[in-house]
Amino acid sequence: MRFAIAGVIGAFVLVAAIAVASRLTLSALPEPGQRETFLVSKAKHYLVQRSTGHGVPPPPSDRQAGTKEGEKLFGTECAACHGLSGRNPTDAGRWMYPRAANLASSDAQSYSDQEVFWIIKNGIRFSGMPAFGRVEPDEHIWDLAFYVRTLPKASAAEQPTQGLHVEQAP
Ligand code: HEC
Repeated sequence: MRFAIAGVIGAFVLVAAIAVASRLTLSALPEPGQRETFLVSKAKHYLVQRSTGHGVPPPPSDRQAGTKEGEKLFGTECAACHGLSGRNPTDAGRWMYPRAANLASSDAQSYSDQEVFWIIKNGIRFSGMPAFGRVEPDEHIWDLAFYVRTLPKASAAEQPTQGLHVEQAP
C-alpha cells in the first residue's frame, strides 16, 4: 500500500516537473508573468531581510553630504543599467532578465536603508545586479543607499525620459 502511494506521488511529481521544464526557456525576451514577479519579489525581500541582520555597518551621521556624494557615484556606477534618473532603466537594463529595477518604485523603496545597503554591497545573485562590495568602500555604499532613498522625491520634470515616448494629450 505504502509503495502504491509513493508511486502515485512520484508520478505526480514527475509530471509536474516535466510540465515546468517544458515551459522553461533561456530567452530573455518574454516579460515575466505576474505570478513569477510576485513570488520572486517575496523571496527576494525575505532573503535580503534575513541577510541584513549581520554585517551592515552603522550609517555615517551626515546624511545630506552622503546623499550628494551618492548622486555623483550613481551617475558613474548605476546609470548604465538603472538610467540616470534611477527610474527609467536603459536598453541594456530593460532587456536583461530579470529587468533592472525602477529604483523609485514602491517595491524598491519598501526595503529599509540597511537592506538597500546590503543589496548594493552584495548584489543580487542570478541577476544583472553587481556586488559593489568589491569595488567600493562601505562609506560610498552608504552614500549610494542614501541617494537611492531620495529618488521618489526628485521632481518628475528633472527626470530624463531616456527613449520613453510620452504621449501628449490632444
Ligand atoms: C549591470 C547592470 C546593473 C548595474 C550597473 C546596477 N544594477 Fe541595480 N539592479 C540591476 C538589476 C538587473 C536588478 C534587478 C534584480 C532582480 O530583480 O532580482 C537590480 C536591482 C537593484 C536594487 C533592488 C531593487 C528591487 O526592487 O529589488 C537596488 C536597490 C539596486 N539595483 C541599486 C543599484 C545601485 C545603487 C547601483 C549602482 C551602485 C546599481 N544598482 C547598479 C542591474 C544593475
